[in-house]
Amino acid sequence: MAPKSVLVTGGAGFIGSHTCVALATAGYTPVILDNLGNSDIRVLERLRQITGSAPRLIQGDVRDRALLDRVLGEESFSAVIHFAGLKAVGDSVADPLTYYDNNVHGSLVLASAMQQAGVRTLIFSSSATVYGEPDHSPIPEDAPCRPANPYGRSKRMVEEALADLHRAQPGWRIALLRYFNPVGAHESGLIGEHPQGKPNNLMPFVCQVAVGQRDKLLIHGNDYPTPDGTGVRDYVHVMDLAEGHVAALRHAQGHAGLVTLNLGTGRGASVLEVVHAFERASGGPLPYEIGPRRPGDVPAYWGDPSLAEATLGWRAHRGLDQMCADSWRWQQGNPNGYDTLAADR
Ligand code: NAD
Ligand code: WQD
Repeated sequence: MAPKSVLVTGGAGFIGSHTCVALATAGYTPVILDNLGNSDIRVLERLRQITGSAPRLIQGDVRDRALLDRVLGEESFSAVIHFAGLKAVGDSVADPLTYYDNNVHGSLVLASAMQQAGVRTLIFSSSATVYGEPDHSPIPEDAPCRPANPYGRSKRMVEEALADLHRAQPGWRIALLRYFNPVGAHESGLIGEHPQGKPNNLMPFVCQVAVGQRDKLLIHGNDYPTPDGTGVRDYVHVMDLAEGHVAALRHAQGHAGLVTLNLGTGRGASVLEVVHAFERASGGPLPYEIGPRRPGDVPAYWGDPSLAEATLGWRAHRGLDQMCADSWRWQQGNPNGYDTLAADR
């Protein structure tokens, strides 16, 4: 019987915390390793409220080989799900070395420590950013990978390193999961996304406008060749994504080999569609203004999730209205993220 413990690096973060819920629901025991560089320790109490128990937290960095050797040597883990990493495209352009050190070096240290400990089942957080500007959508996994920024290149480098590892040691069980645009929050409203500083991404910005923390949304261009002129993306509910990780884990535990899979809905939605869906969810108008295009933006892309459906028996089933309703519930209840004390200041 495979041990139920799963090491979740970056598990205190947005997608990792939601995946910890899905893991616990599926009967696994998530153990979080996180340096809390972009998350809040108070998420653990929220996870306890949702699942009945708080995952053990090992506060540390995936680049700390001695720590990884200790953690992987002290407890038998059936697998590692590797979320830990930096994810802001703009920051990666300004500071590429930090991104390569954290995302690439961190992943290599982890894989090497896993190899030494004899843990050879790894689920890796990749990103649709590895595709760069696609030739067409929906994007299949065998589309050319032309990442256009250091962040996307860091993800692609790790994908290629893990593919080489698997070629050298075919006994590894590896899933490279390419997420499109994760949004939403757990239906309880107890956990969600709370970016530090001004949000780069659409949904957290919309949430902050809706709750009155920001005046209005600036829509980055409405002159794209899309149905309403605004950018189109494949938004996927974070809980669908979390459940996709459990499905990938189960598949990896039953099949040696390496799979590369898109985790998305297979449908594109425009910025204005998101705005209108959010207005339905919040019951009020969302102030916005049309601004210039954002440099580096791709007009439209969405994924082809059919391989994930065929391989994992997984598909996203939560629609845009639920993504917005769950985001709104989280934002309303936690206008300052987990820093609920700040609400009283
Ligand atoms: P997040 O920032 O909320 O979570 C990442 C977590 O990793 C944080 O808790 C952070 O403290 C931790 N962390 C970062 N570097 C670490 C290190 N060196 N050692 C230990 N912990 C570390 O981000 P997220 O949105 O949950 O994304 C999780 C993963 O999914 C990332 O690898 C990201 O690149 C990838 N991804 C995210 C998106 C998205 O839009 N959110 C899309 C595609 C892929
Ligand atoms: C979505 C749409 C914007 C903000 C990014 C990363 C990618 C991945 C997911 C990590 C676009 C428009 C946005 C705003 C707007 N992260 N927009 N006003 O750029 O598709 O992907 O997050 O892997 O790597 O690149 O997501 O949410 O920034 O933008 O009009 O204030 O919303 O132009 O059309 P993106 P996004």
